[in-house]
Amino acid sequence: MRVALVGARGHGARHVDNLLRLGHDGVATFVGVVDVADVDVPVPSYPDLPSLAAELHPEVVVISSPPSTHRELVLGAFDLGCDVLVEKPALLSTADFEEISAAAEKRGLVCQVGFQSQGKGSYRRLCSLIGSGALGDISGIGAAGRWVRTDSYYERAEWAGRQGEDGTLVNPFAHALQNALLLADVEERSDIGVELELFRCRDTISADDTACVRVTAEGAPPVVVATTLCATTSLPPIVLVHGSLGQAVWWYDDDRLKVNDHTMAVPPSVDLLENLIRHRQTGEPLVAPLAAARAFTSVVQQCGKTAVPLLPARRVGDRVVLDGVDEVVVRAAEKMATFSELGCGFGR
Ligand SMILES: NC(=O)c1ccc[n+]([C@@H]2O[C@H](COP(=O)([O-])OP(=O)(O)OC[C@H]3O[C@@H](n4cnc5c(N)ncnc54)[C@H](O)[C@@H]3O)[C@@H](O)[C@H]2O)c1
Repeated sequence: MRVALVGARGHGARHVDNLLRLGHDGVATFVGVVDVADVDVPVPSYPDLPSLAAELHPEVVVISSPPSTHRELVLGAFDLGCDVLVEKPALLSTADFEEISAAAEKRGLVCQVGFQSQGKGSYRRLCSLIGSGALGDISGIGAAGRWVRTDSYYERAEWAGRQGEDGTLVNPFAHALQNALLLADVEERSDIGVELELFRCRDTISADDTACVRVTAEGAPPVVVATTLCATTSLPPIVLVHGSLGQAVWWYDDDRLKVNDHTMAVPPSVDLLENLIRHRQTGEPLVAPLAAARAFTSVVQQCGKTAVPLLPARRVGDRVVLDGVDEVVVRAAEKMATFSELGCGFGR
């Protein structure tokens, strides 16, 4: 299948590598790139999608441009009759989510979202363990994201640190949130309760750099996700499944899974673009369809509207440290409690 990429720098560089790999393996033909900037890629590049399409006729478009550009680019790709793989956050409002879902349905096209951990073998193994009852009754899904990020993180792109497009749950730890929503089986629901506590430790950004969310839905285990980019030390992000027969710890970035402290074997991962291509060719189900990002998009929308108070924090060279947050984000995931419930001093 003929595939074009929109946005080749930043995270797009990973898509370039993947497309070259798939081209080498004969799975896809990487026809060209669309970017508003000059890019250094071994395929033709164009300033917009219609001019690329007029010459190269793609069948699939991968979109890895800033979040606020996704809606228009996805609609543009649909107008050209292309299926889409769009990076997370796919869309920034539930209205856009409904519009794009309806547009795909109307044209008989599909939209996969760049939640690559949904293709990980560890995810499939964890789902089957939960489904088989091996963990007993599930009382909650917790997740913790804890990274150190320096000033350069916010200087790399115009939209970085901007509320409405960025924020820890919307961008760097979007996977933690989405994974927790999936494991609680609420990902497609719109009837969810969302409690948010958002904070920022830098006065140069409007989005949160430290956050906690609880998502609840009738008949489903609660979800608590706690995140920070103001840690003293980074930790690989974790998702905890609390069950009556035990606990699972999932390191989604590393494709690692432990249950009751035992390391579990995991099947091979599925690449999202290969899966989308096979979906078209053989009907294989999509692993990360847009429909599964409904609850995530509701949380994203609320993150864009919730107050983000500034916290007093410590500057250490080119980073900002929130004392105590390292332990608090992990405790929130373990105890299924929000910052304020943990009485950590900065919760509301
Ligand atoms: N799946 C993941 O693990 C993961 C990781 C990092 C980023 N992302 C997501 O990937 C997307 C891109 O993030 P980034 O940090 O690479 O962004 P970025 O700001 O670095 O932009 C990426 C590219 O898009 C180009 N671009 C900007 N506006 C454009 C437009 N209107 N049309 C065409 N090209 C345009 C830029 O010139 C750049 O080459 C975001 O949605 C981000 O959240 C996903």
